[in-house]
Amino acid sequence: MLIGLHLGNGYGSQPGAWRMPGVDPKSYTSFDARVKQAQAAERGKFQFIFLPDGPGAIMADIETESPNFNLDVMLTLAGVARETEYIGLVATGSTTFNEPFNLARQFKALDIMSHGRAGWNAITSSGEDVAANYGMRIPSSEERYGRAHEVVQLIQALWGSWGKDAWVHNQESGQFAKQDQIVPINLQGKFVSSRGPLYIPPSEQGQPIIFHAGGSPNAHELAGRFANAVIGAAFTIEDARAQRNAFREAAKRYGRNPDEIKYIPGLMTTIAKDRRTALDRRIQLTEHLFPQRVAYLQRMLGISLDYAHLNEPLSNKQLVAANPSPYDPRSSNALKIAKEGWSLRDVLAHGVIDYHPVIVGPGIEAADHMQAWFEAGAADGFWISTDVNADGIDAFVDEVVPILQERGLFHLDYEGKTLRKHLGAPEQYGIDPRV
Ligand SMILES: Cc1cc2nc3c(=O)[nH]c(=O)nc-3n(C[C@H](O)[C@H](O)[C@H](O)COP(=O)(O)O)c2cc1C
Repeated sequence: MLIGLHLGNGYGSQPGAWRMPGVDPKSYTSFDARVKQAQAAERGKFQFIFLPDGPGAIMADIETESPNFNLDVMLTLAGVARETEYIGLVATGSTTFNEPFNLARQFKALDIMSHGRAGWNAITSSGEDVAANYGMRIPSSEERYGRAHEVVQLIQALWGSWGKDAWVHNQESGQFAKQDQIVPINLQGKFVSSRGPLYIPPSEQGQPIIFHAGGSPNAHELAGRFANAVIGAAFTIEDARAQRNAFREAAKRYGRNPDEIKYIPGLMTTIAKDRRTALDRRIQLTEHLFPQRVAYLQRMLGISLDYAHLNEPLSNKQLVAANPSPYDPRSSNALKIAKEGWSLRDVLAHGVIDYHPVIVGPGIEAADHMQAWFEAGAADGFWISTDVNADGIDAFVDEVVPILQERGLFHLDYEGKTLRKHLGAPEQYGIDPRV
C-alpha cells in the first residue's frame, strides 16, 4: 500500500487548524514547519509528500482562513529535500501556465538535489482565478489537454536529451562530457516547442516520475499515456474502483502494463483515542463554520434543519423525510451517520461535508477503511490530509501505520531511496517509446 501526505498551507486540512493550541500561527510562511511535517511523514515511511498548487493561491476567506497552498511548491520541496533522505517529493506544475523548458529544468534539478525523489503532478489548471494571474482566460478543455500531451512529451524528451552515460567528468583525460550524447530535441508541436538540450544529467532514478490528478475522461487519457500515479478523489469503494479501472484501461490502450499506474484517492483524518475525543477536536476546529454547514447539509438531505437544535439528534420525522441528493455522493453517508443518533453538531463533526472520506476516531478506523478499499481493488494507496499537521501527522504515524504494518499491508521500511523504487515504477529515461 502506498501512502502520501498532503502538504498544503502548512497548517492542515481544516480551516481552523491555524488557530489550534500548539500551532505556530505563522506556519504559512515557515519552511521549517514544512520540513518538520515532511520528516514526520518520513518517520512513518510514507512513500511521498504531495504539494498541490493552483498555481497561485485560491483564497478561501482570507479574513479568517489561510490560503490553501504553499508560497512556492518548488522552493518548499528544495528545502525539504535537503532535510530528508527517503520520502518522495511531488508537486503540482501546471501544463497550461508554464513553459515546458522551465518545468523540465526545475523538476530535473529537484530530482538531482533529492537524489532521485522528485515527482511532477502534471495538471492543466481549470480555474479562471488562476488564469487571471497570467493575464489570460482559461483555455478550452480541448486546448488545455492538447497542450498538456505535448508538454509532457516535450519535457520527457528534454530530460532524456542529456544521454544517460554522457557525463564523463574525467579530470585526467580532461573530458567533461560526451558532446555527441547531449543533443537538441528540436520538437515543434501545435502548442509548444523547444530546441534543447537540457543541460542536466540523469538522477539516481533517471528522471522525475509523472503524476496526474483528476477524474475526467481527459484525465484518463493523459494519465493513461504518461502517469505512474494518479492523485484521486472518491467517496465510495464503487466509485474508486471504477476510477482506478478507468485509469488502468487507459494505460492498456497505450500498450502499458496497468500496474504501472497507481490510483491513490484521498483520506482525511482526525485521529484520537476514541470517537468522542476525535469529534470534540473536530468541533473545536470547525464550529465557526457550522451555520453555513447546517444550511449545506439541509440541501444534501433534502429536509430543513434548525441551527437552534444543534445539540439534538435529528427527529424521526426528519430522518424519514430525508432524501439524500443523488448529485452529492456524500449525502447517503451523511444520512447513515444521522441515523446512528448523533446530534446535529456531531453529524457535522464527522466531516460529512469534506472533500474526501473522513475518519474521525481511533487509528483502527482509518486502518480498517484503508484495508477495505485496498483489498476491494479500489485503491493502490491513499494520500492523507491530516486535520492539523502539527500533531495530526504524528498521530497517523503512531496510531495507524503500525496497524497497517501488523496486518502486512504497509512496508516496514523503505525498499530503496528513489521515488521510482517506492512506487515500483519501471525504468524510464526520456520519452516512453511505447506511447
Ligand atoms: C485529488 C485532486 C487533486 C487535484 N489537484 C490539483 C492541483 O494541485 N492543482 C490544480 O490546478 N488542479 C488540481 N486538480 C484539478 C484537476 O487537475 C482537474 O483540473 C479537475 O479535476 C477538472 O478537470 P478538467 O481539467 O478536465 O476540467 C485536482 C483534482 C483532484 C481530483
